[in-house]
Amino acid sequence: MASHKPQIGWYGIGSMGRPMAENLQRHLADNNERPLIYSNRTLRAGDTLESLGAIPTTDFTDLVRRCDIVFTMIPNDDVLQRLMKLAIASSSDLSNKIFVDCSTVHPDTIKKLSSDLDKHEAALLSAPVFGGPSVAATGSLVFAISGLKSACLIVEKYIVNVMGRKLIHCGENASNASLLKIGGNIVTLSLMEAVGEAQVFAEKTGLGTEAMEQLITESFGAVAGGYSQRLTSGIYAPPLDTRPGFGISLAIKDAKHALSMAEEHGFQLPGLGLVDKHMQSARDYGGECLDSSAMYGILRQQASLSFWNKTSRQSGALVTPHDTKDLGDTV
Ligand SMILES: NC(=O)c1ccc[n+]([C@@H]2O[C@H](COP(=O)([O-])OP(=O)(O)OC[C@H]3O[C@@H](n4cnc5c(N)ncnc54)[C@H](OP(=O)(O)O)[C@@H]3O)[C@@H](O)[C@H]2O)c1
Repeated sequence: MASHKPQIGWYGIGSMGRPMAENLQRHLADNNERPLIYSNRTLRAGDTLESLGAIPTTDFTDLVRRCDIVFTMIPNDDVLQRLMKLAIASSSDLSNKIFVDCSTVHPDTIKKLSSDLDKHEAALLSAPVFGGPSVAATGSLVFAISGLKSACLIVEKYIVNVMGRKLIHCGENASNASLLKIGGNIVTLSLMEAVGEAQVFAEKTGLGTEAMEQLITESFGAVAGGYSQRLTSGIYAPPLDTRPGFGISLAIKDAKHALSMAEEHGFQLPGLGLVDKHMQSARDYGGECLDSSAMYGILRQQASLSFWNKTSRQSGALVTPHDTKDLGDTV
């Protein structure tokens, strides 16, 4: 990469990608740096980003060609593999380009893609994030980062105090940050299950969810309190025309990665195994448009309550999963 200020690109304007990219674009504008170039499968999802000064492109390979650093925030391993394959197959010179994947993917995916890109003298950094869309909106995410040290140093200044409040360095082994993310999600998903159980307890015993929510927030902190609010506000099962904060299929993917890695290393994650079953049952019952916390609906059913509470959408109608659409021409 030349010594001028790098041209930065962004692919993936979903629940997380949009607030993250918007914070990055604000930072670039405030510092008179070149505006972000972005792309997304559904380009109009970037309309607010464009209004902040960022530049759209319909084509992922065009994004790669024009940028020195390319951030990706996409759902899963399959999409990341397809994007990186496109980058490698394009006629662009990839030498000295830095790809920064902020999604949650399996460490083996990072390892393989990092090695593939290395052959083209490009670096892949794993930079997954902890915190949901509301945390992303305030630029307060916790990031982990791993990969080539010189590339990490270049990228850090676009993360710390821009999109995130904290960066955990995981070393030069590119897959380490992904490993931390998968391990951290054992806590995230198990905490959602625990909060769900406590709120079913509160409702069934007549105590009420409000007192329980206060206790959870005061004693166990804002994160646990936020999980309780997802239940009491009903956004564990949001309206069908909205995008869930942390989609159920993304959470199931994360749990599966942790469970398969545990199996590979000869140990078990029994609590997470139960959470995974509850999330899958929730998706079977309520479809794709559910938040990761929707295991609550199954816990409710097991307690002879309806899957839906008073504030959730009161319907079991199914919708087509977001991530089963084709990549099409837009990538
Ligand atoms: N949500 C959270 O709270 C959270 C927190 C930490 C980490 N994560 C991780 O961050 C990543 C992104 O999560 P998110 O909540 O932002 O997901 P999301 O809202 O579902 O957004 C996914 C993004 O990827 C694009 N996409 C989906 N399928 C695609 C395909 N087949 N080809 C090309 N692009 C595709 C979507 O484009 P369209 O706009 O066209 O659908 C969208 O821009 C995931 O790996 C997730 O596990 C999420």
